[in-house]
Amino acid sequence: MTGPLLALDQITTYYGQMRILEGISLEVHPGELVCLLGGNASGKSTTLKTVLGIVRPRAGAVVVDGEDVTARSVPERIARGLAIVPENRRLFGDMTVRENLELGATLRRGEDLTEDFERVHTLFPRVYERRDQLAGTLSGGEQQMVAIGRALMSRPRLMLMDEPSMGLSPALVQQNFRIIKQVHEAGVAILMVEQNAAMALSIADRGYVLATGEIVLSGSAESLLRSDDLKRAYLGR
Ligand SMILES: Nc1ncnc2c1ncn2[C@@H]1O[C@H](COP(=O)(O)OP(=O)(O)O)[C@@H](O)[C@H]1O
Ligand SMILES: [Mg+2]
Repeated sequence: MTGPLLALDQITTYYGQMRILEGISLEVHPGELVCLLGGNASGKSTTLKTVLGIVRPRAGAVVVDGEDVTARSVPERIARGLAIVPENRRLFGDMTVRENLELGATLRRGEDLTEDFERVHTLFPRVYERRDQLAGTLSGGEQQMVAIGRALMSRPRLMLMDEPSMGLSPALVQQNFRIIKQVHEAGVAILMVEQNAAMALSIADRGYVLATGEIVLSGSAESLLRSDDLKRAYLGR
């Protein structure tokens, strides 16, 4: 068996004087879908930002393919196969869908992107139809597709997703989870932050539960779904 694609080893992260994460350790193996659950302000987004390098930890290590990347920049981590679908999508509203997708391949400038566009358009025919439309005029569900498509343009091996179902109608949440499942089945590992624990665990392999910056529970998705501790971990906050 190969080692983990991503490992966080005893990560402690501060914002100023405030300790936000305390001794977080977790792993994502190649092709795995792992969810990171937890209540509001428990440190989920901070964990993803620490993985990508947007936030630097005060202690601990971020390890990708066995290499310590803690001191590496965001682009260097993207070059190693990480990509993010950020909270609230963060598309460029006054750029077209196609231009937004291209931004996902910034580090591959000069390369032929035909296949990558095809891959995204096959997954999201809707994105193809809307390719010349300004991203700011898309519906929430369409924006989410473009955000996932943009992340795919860098050919990631690990996709970080921060609350992908936030702000979507119930029908679109269902569709969104189907899409995430498809991306996973195409071989991309996913580390997904979600408030919707039951839904996230229904497609995940494993999960971790954060409470005030510490991992209080982890296990297979099945065991977490059956766990009373999961409810307690949420309600105990
Ligand atoms: N840039 C920042 N500066 C100071 N505090 C922050 C910053 N970002 C987040 N926080 C605080 O860190 C805590 C964890 O935030 P976050 O990781 O966004 O939680 P979650 O994603 O689980 O809701 C919260 O108390 C939040 O207010
Ligand atoms: Mg968050």
